[in-house]
Amino acid sequence: MAHIQKVGVVGAGNMGSGIAQKLAQEGLQVVLMDIQPAYVERGLTGIKAMLDEGVKRRIFRPQQVEETMGRIQGTTDLADMANCDLVIEAVFEDLEVKGNLFQQLDAVCEPKTILGTNTSSFYVRDFAPRTSRPDRFVGLHYFFHPAKNRLLEVIPHEGTSQDTIDACLLAARLHGKTAIVVKDAAGFAVNRFFVPFLNGAARMLEESVANIPTIEEGAKRAFRIGMGPFLLMNVTGIPIAVHSSATLGRELGPFYATADILQKQMELGQDWDLEGEVVEEDLRAVIERFQGVCLGVAAKLVSEGVASIEDTDRGAKIGLRWSMGPFEIMNRLGIEQTCYLVQAIADRYPDFAMPSLLLQQRKLREPFTFSYVDLGIEGDIATITFNRPEAMNALNEQVVGQIADRFARAEADPGVKAIVFRGAGKAFVAGADIRYFVKKIEADAIDDIHAFTKAGHDLLLAIEGSDKLTVAVLDGLSLGGGSELALACQAIVATPAGSMGFPETGIGIFPGLGGMPRLARQVGADLATYYVLTGRGISARDAHDLGLVAALVPPGELDGAIRALVAVGVPPKNHARDIPAPFQALAATCAGDNLPRLLAGEPIQHDDATLAAKTVKGVGFKAPIACRIACELIHAGSELSMAQAAELELARLHEIFSTEDALEGLSSVGRRRPSFSGT
Ligand SMILES: NC(=O)c1ccc[n+]([C@@H]2O[C@H](COP(=O)([O-])OP(=O)(O)OC[C@H]3O[C@@H](n4cnc5c(N)ncnc54)[C@H](O)[C@@H]3O)[C@@H](O)[C@H]2O)c1
Repeated sequence: MAHIQKVGVVGAGNMGSGIAQKLAQEGLQVVLMDIQPAYVERGLTGIKAMLDEGVKRRIFRPQQVEETMGRIQGTTDLADMANCDLVIEAVFEDLEVKGNLFQQLDAVCEPKTILGTNTSSFYVRDFAPRTSRPDRFVGLHYFFHPAKNRLLEVIPHEGTSQDTIDACLLAARLHGKTAIVVKDAAGFAVNRFFVPFLNGAARMLEESVANIPTIEEGAKRAFRIGMGPFLLMNVTGIPIAVHSSATLGRELGPFYATADILQKQMELGQDWDLEGEVVEEDLRAVIERFQGVCLGVAAKLVSEGVASIEDTDRGAKIGLRWSMGPFEIMNRLGIEQTCYLVQAIADRYPDFAMPSLLLQQRKLREPFTFSYVDLGIEGDIATITFNRPEAMNALNEQVVGQIADRFARAEADPGVKAIVFRGAGKAFVAGADIRYFVKKIEADAIDDIHAFTKAGHDLLLAIEGSDKLTVAVLDGLSLGGGSELALACQAIVATPAGSMGFPETGIGIFPGLGGMPRLARQVGADLATYYVLTGRGISARDAHDLGLVAALVPPGELDGAIRALVAVGVPPKNHARDIPAPFQALAATCAGDNLPRLLAGEPIQHDDATLAAKTVKGVGFKAPIACRIACELIHAGSELSMAQAAELELARLHEIFSTEDALEGLSSVGRRRPSFSGT
């Protein structure tokens, strides 16, 4: 697959400069081009201003700003794009301007260069024929503000090669984007329902269904969002809503066409007037209309194969910041109510037929089921991808069930030699769904947590004991259950962005999926205890130094590293090894007499007084019962088989989840620092 190290961005306007900023922020080399030096300068000044704002808000250090700016080369010469691995076009939305540009880029760029368009209203296939490399031509649709919004629609046209798609997915990962692959269709996935959301708001105003404040309020309640459509249009510009609805109307029919009142507002050149009172009696009609329109369009685009239900939801949640995706909302409303609301839209607009997907689902009388775990088999390597990036791939009952299912299918395939686990988006797996635990504790249903954990243990034992080589790809954050899953694999391959961590004792529980004894087997009980009691993260580099990671490579070399492991095999992971001195110092904080002192909050004996004080202080913030049980389990588990160690952990599960500290710690996540009582 192509390496992505240097990326060209053409057009230093709103989108281009934001795209360039994000790429450079994440460490890629960027060439930013515009037609006049003043425009390049304006783009660079805008980037610098945004980064400086980040320094004020303590998101970046001044040195990071300097480094980021140092990675961006501004230019007015298209020839500077020649050796880029990828060039992203973000110039005026004009067919001829873009078409000519791609013709020039094709002439200037080396054969390796992939060309991408950020067009919002043309098809990708409109431009690919202007180049001699349609196989290396793709749509890359960013969302405003591209340095902040994580969503990226990757849009292959019919001639785009799989290699190009893979390279774009890699590029997306490299600059922190969550990519969804979408068909080259009008509005792609997200604008297809977002634009009718804006246009539909205007139509309701035109038809006097409600006033602006009521429509704003109805939108917020319908989709649990913070900003209504009129305010959004005021912020992003009414012309964008007009142009995008005009395009959709032209391509897809009158249902999508621009509302007259919206067109007039643009011609007036004024923002919408948001003043006024919400009229409660009108709210229901507004909510129903919004849901009918957006859910109907979402179902339609999936029926047409534009995107999957999961990616459509992801688009709404990540790209538009809805708290639930359209299909999750449909499940909440129920299929009957959804069909009722969408049918009302179909009755109103003759060109809007009921989507086939809804009719099928109504026949099934079931909610939609989401696939969060994908299985792909290429040659002798099966890849299981945790694909729930909107929740950092967190584990819950459904996800664990799906991993077990995909794993069983990969194991049953005689042609498969290795099973590789990867996470979509920035994380590998960020632990288990905390809300699930809280709900179960509050419902007095710890037995359910036990059953969930037992299923997790069984799965991890199967992964560890598989006849096929099992490999975790740690190219992002992993925490808790995610790190435990990685440790259960027979080998870990990582990039420098990978990390592990066991934050559980800080939220009132202990790591419950065998990570403690697995870590102890490899690095010794004392160092394992240190990581579990302090919750300190283990970077991929540290994990490599400790022998936990078999290969540490840049992201573009992961596939090669995995293939090399499959070819040569890996030595058993549980063997004695030399622990480098800095880690021995960490282990010593939890060794011998220091451990009871640490647990009692007393000073410990250590050559490094600073480390000793920091460790005592850090452990002091953790839940005491969780710490105590964790220590017992680490030491006892090291002597047992992994299956027995798992049993031992399960035997302590009720005890820990019944403590007040568990409820306090788990409920505090993301809200406040927990306060543990030791009960
Ligand atoms: N604004 C959004 O929210 C949004 C979202 C997704 C996609 N888009 C798409 O992104 C593209 C850019 O939008 P924008 O809002 O950044 O526009 P913009 O007007 O802010 O910037 C366009 C820039 O392109 C430059 N330019 C024009 N022709 C050029 C050429 N031949 N070579 C080099 N530079 C050239 C202009 O000088 C200008 O600086 C459009 O295709 C738009 O549809 C916009």
